[in-house]
Amino acid sequence: MITKEHILDWLRSSSDVLEENRLYLTKLDTAIGDADHGNNMHRGFSKVKTQLDDHADKDIGAILKAVAMTLISTVGGASGPLYGTFFLQAGTKVAGKEELDGAAFAAMFRAGVDGVKMRGKAEPGDKTMVDVLEPVAEAIEKDIKDGKSIGATLLHAVEVADEGVKATIPLIAKKGRASYLGERSKDHQDPGATSSKLIIECLSEVMS
Ligand SMILES: Nc1ncnc2c1ncn2[C@@H]1O[C@H](COP(=O)(O)OP(=O)(O)OP(=O)(O)O)[C@@H](O)[C@H]1O
Ligand SMILES: [Mg+2]
Repeated sequence: MITKEHILDWLRSSSDVLEENRLYLTKLDTAIGDADHGNNMHRGFSKVKTQLDDHADKDIGAILKAVAMTLISTVGGASGPLYGTFFLQAGTKVAGKEELDGAAFAAMFRAGVDGVKMRGKAEPGDKTMVDVLEPVAEAIEKDIKDGKSIGATLLHAVEVADEGVKATIPLIAKKGRASYLGERSKDHQDPGATSSKLIIECLSEVMS
């Protein structure tokens, strides 16, 4: 089961890991964007971290929705509304729940990813965070359906996320600022795909 404490630990470690990777993410965004992705993510998640104590009485759905509001109001750029939508739709899917079994978790993650896809209109292959989020959602759904534990499912999800990040390198960007570069966006790793991978890794570590 994923408990509320796991979710709070996930958000805390995501904030720490995004802080550690702030310069790295910004470097990736310097090559094919406007050099702000690391700062954007750090700003949003450090604010989330300061609010974790306020979430003690909330259920998982309400926590994720509060995170969404914080990200939407602090991150800015393209990624703020997109990550905000992820947490909003994920939170809506698990409204009222104090813990999640595998099926509830898979449905939650899928709802978040579908929200990102609907909001940003990106599909896999467009060189965005969707290149990580969509294959990870598919892997989680399949593994849970096949009876894998949440821990094993997440270990596999990290491998899939890694592959998704690497697969963005040769792609030509079709969405967001990087798409203005056309062919010149090739041979660069997508920053948003990378931050998505880091956040998924944090959940796997919390659940292992
Ligand atoms: N339409 C989209 N759908 C999904 N992800 C997207 C989309 N557009 C951009 N992204 C993701 O957002 C990341 C860039 O996030 P960042 O925080 O740098 O915002 P930004 O593009 O600089 O925003 P702005 O253009 O408003 O300054 C990209 O690496 C990509 O993964
Ligand atoms: Mg940017």
